[in-house]
Amino acid sequence: MESGRGKMTAQLMLAVGGAVLGSLQFGYNTGVINAPQKVIEEFYNQTWHNRYGDYISPGTLTTLWALSVSIFSVGGMLGSFSVGLFVNRFGRRNSMLASNVLAFLAAALMGFSKMAASFEMLVLGRFVVGVYSGLSTGFVPMYVGEVSPTALRGALGTLHQLGVVIGILIAQVFGMDLIMGSENLWPLLLGFTFVPALVQCILLPFAPESPRFLLINLNEENKAKSVLKKLRGTTDVSSDLQEMKEESRQMMQEKKVTIPELFRSPMYRQPILIAVVLQLSQQLSGINAVFYYSTRIFEKSGVQQPVYATIGAGVVNTAFTVVSLFIVERAGRRTLHLIGLGGMAGCAILMTIALALLDQMAWMSYVSIIAIFGFVAFFEIGPGPIPWFIVAELFSQGPRPAAFAVAGLSNWTSNFIVGMGFQYVEEACGAYVFIIFMVLLILFFIFTYFKVPETKGRTFDEIASGFRQGGALQGDNKTPDEFHGLGADSQV
Ligand SMILES: *[C@@H]1O[C@H](CO)[C@@H](O)[C@H](O)[C@H]1NC(C)=O
Repeated sequence: MESGRGKMTAQLMLAVGGAVLGSLQFGYNTGVINAPQKVIEEFYNQTWHNRYGDYISPGTLTTLWALSVSIFSVGGMLGSFSVGLFVNRFGRRNSMLASNVLAFLAAALMGFSKMAASFEMLVLGRFVVGVYSGLSTGFVPMYVGEVSPTALRGALGTLHQLGVVIGILIAQVFGMDLIMGSENLWPLLLGFTFVPALVQCILLPFAPESPRFLLINLNEENKAKSVLKKLRGTTDVSSDLQEMKEESRQMMQEKKVTIPELFRSPMYRQPILIAVVLQLSQQLSGINAVFYYSTRIFEKSGVQQPVYATIGAGVVNTAFTVVSLFIVERAGRRTLHLIGLGGMAGCAILMTIALALLDQMAWMSYVSIIAIFGFVAFFEIGPGPIPWFIVAELFSQGPRPAAFAVAGLSNWTSNFIVGMGFQYVEEACGAYVFIIFMVLLILFFIFTYFKVPETKGRTFDEIASGFRQGGALQGDNKTPDEFHGLGADSQV
């Protein structure tokens, strides 16, 4: 008979499915503000006119729109930084469940903003749904990682990213003016975030609390055992329990780790540096430049129907997330991240060539479509999914919540920078804007090659001891700090 370690049970499916609705929400609200920009700007203009008697000035409108888009990232930063406050006190599942209050509140604020003739409500709603999304990007990968058996941890970890990209695709399709992106229906488009929140509130009460939380935070071994039996579909859960207890025992020694300690302790400095740089590699790769501005980029490349090319990019995005879901266990995270970064750099070069030669050769517009689709595909093979669950795999229970908070903060901050800065950089560099991303991608490739260890199929403990010995770092010369770390370690 099967050991049950890698089996997909109904309980596991319910737990993971209920959780990734949070990822869907994050993706939906990332993509949703893009398509109806014109009709919502018109609403801002009219509201301004009715209130103050004058039409809004173009400059004020641009500022107000930028605020509506980017305040989502500010909420995200706040949410992701608060993850640690909730998960250890209330548990992973209950924290996810409670955070839906924010989703309902945001749906109401945005959905009724037109009726109330208040753009303030829309901006506030974007902020609140940003906080919810920031919390989700912490809660979901942590919960999914903790309910999944080691053999499925990688594949199920990619479901967070799959939820995000499907959310973006749904938002792109719903946002077409034929569906909900019209003058009358856009409040429904933004308020739609109510639906996944409701479904999550129905599903999650039937999903179990994380067994790691039950055993390690609450010390409830029997509850953890019965949850594990249901999740694994087997009565023999001793190896799972043993792994968790081993972690728990280590925690007694390593204690609870705060965020400043993550940076001060030589033991965590290397892993937290890796976690932060991998998050930066995801956002500074230029992927959101494509998702926020692809229609505009396609337009400039002479593509006839830029909206369909944008939806095409959303489809490629989703398809390659599925591809990565199947290969992630086989190929290993480090290799996939390297392939993804290298491929994106190649596509950035192709994009630059296509835009430069566009005046001489009209068919270069097709090359630009291929370049953007390739860019998105390689993103989903590596930099999309890998950074999130490599964080979960680099840190054991003690430092993990703090590590997730730091990783989330880096991700949202760099998201905000790209969202705000791209337009200015593009105005300055024109067609050569992708060269900047190419340079960044090559730098991230070099960093990953020399600094990031393979985490595939290894327990937290094995990975952590790899860092302590420095053996996981290929071709890495030890710095004095690491020698100090080794010395400090042997004194414990
Ligand atoms: C606001 O609406 C008026 C009337 O439709 C229009 O003339 C004006 O250009 C609009 N302002 C902006 C900034 O779009």
